Amino acid sequence: SEITMKVAFRVNGQAHSLAVDPRTTLLDALREHLGLTGTKKGCDHGQCGACTAIVDGRRMNTCLSLALMHESSEIDTIEELGRVEELHPMQAAFIAHDGYQCGYCTPGQILSAVATLDEIAAGIPSAATRRVSQPSPASPEEIRERMSGNLCRCAAYPNIIAAITDVQEGRR
Ligand code: FES
Repeated sequence: SEITMKVAFRVNGQAHSLAVDPRTTLLDALREHLGLTGTKKGCDHGQCGACTAIVDGRRMNTCLSLALMHESSEIDTIEELGRVEELHPMQAAFIAHDGYQCGYCTPGQILSAVATLDEIAAGIPSAATRRVSQPSPASPEEIRERMSGNLCRCAAYPNIIAAITDVQEGRR
């Protein structure tokens, strides 16, 4: 007999109440319980960023967090970006710059890129350097540093950084 516990949170603006095994990660809750497979499982150990979602306004590796810890959280996944607008500007920029090859890391890259520009605009320091962007807009080097938690095995990094830089310039 399997023990389950209840958790309720909102995903992409919709309320969900789930009964999950207490060991279920937020990633597995999204993918297996809610069918939101745009959030990818790469390493399942917090090292690749494929599982990135925006949780209560901050990007997070959902493979590292238990679903039960997210009672009342507001979670946004890649599915939301495509729903609100036909193509989010970051999605359009990734296409324009060939910011992907196999595409497996792309949802995490795009969510992380959107969050990176929000963090820079809000003056949130870089996790690694603890520096606020100075000057703003951030340089490609700084964007690369802030995106360093998202790995791409096809090494499309220059194209990814070009796409993000483009969106940043469009926002000015
Ligand atoms: Fe979560 Fe790799 S699957 S960081």
